[in-house]
Amino acid sequence: MNKLIVSLLLTVGISGIAHAAGDATAGQAKAAVCGACHGPDGNSMAPNFPKLAGQGERYLNKQLHDIKSGKRTVLEMTGLLTNLSDQDLADIAAYFASQKGSVGAADPKVVSRGEALFRGGDLAKGLPSCTGCHSPNGAGNAAAGFPHLGGQHAQYIAKQLTDFRKEEAGRTNDGDTKPMQTISKKLSDEDIAAVSSYIQGLH
Ligand code: HEC
Ligand code: HEC
Repeated sequence: MNKLIVSLLLTVGISGIAHAAGDATAGQAKAAVCGACHGPDGNSMAPNFPKLAGQGERYLNKQLHDIKSGKRTVLEMTGLLTNLSDQDLADIAAYFASQKGSVGAADPKVVSRGEALFRGGDLAKGLPSCTGCHSPNGAGNAAAGFPHLGGQHAQYIAKQLTDFRKEEAGRTNDGDTKPMQTISKKLSDEDIAAVSSYIQGLH
């Protein structure tokens, strides 16, 4: 493992919110309203709505708290979480985490560039590989709160990388050490298109 990944891994430091344990069975009923966009089992059909099925429970719970508090802006979800308690959010996170995520296909034209970036990073630019945190098959690291990426819609992935790159004007909830804001700035638009397409077919 190269030095850069080790230092990033050591400093990621996801902020520790004390979370209630989630109950997937209770979460299924509470998640009914989410199905319209994310799919009843969390496998959304629309490429701008992220799949939640099979996503790590800790990561989901953190995003739900961030979206509810406004630390992460999701206009489509405005007001939707206001009346949900910490227990409700934990139950919903447990429900989607227990579902099986579907996988899409990569665009053959860009797959080799996407794979090289995902697996090898770019030493010249100081870009670490994605596998160090998101694992070689894109499953992430559920215990650490590093999200599962494999099979996610390419359009959604590309939007997140672009949003991380915008810093204050975009997505800023990637923890105190801002690993994704740092990494996304080293990616060109072409890099983002290639790696996002590769991730869509990854499993
Ligand atoms: C009207 C459509 C809509 C509804 C209804 C909706 N969402 Fe979302 N949700 C979105 C969109 C769009 C995004 C991604 C926004 C972006 O691009 O950053 C999102 C993002 C998320 C994320 C972040 C996923 C990730 O990989 O980081 C979670 C978690 C989430 N929604 C959970 C829920 C839950 C739980 C409900 C029900 C209580 C719900 N959503 C209802 C549209 C919706
Ligand atoms: C040092 C660890 C680390 C490395 C290396 C890393 N990531 Fe991340 N990534 C994270 C963390 C932590 C988050 C979750 C941030 C949060 O809580 O919102 C994340 C989130 C993401 C998300 C948002 C997922 C979602 O569902 O919204 C995408 C997309 C992503 N990373 C892509 C990549 C790509 C592509 C690479 C390689 C070029 C990469 N990451 C390398 C730690 C890392």
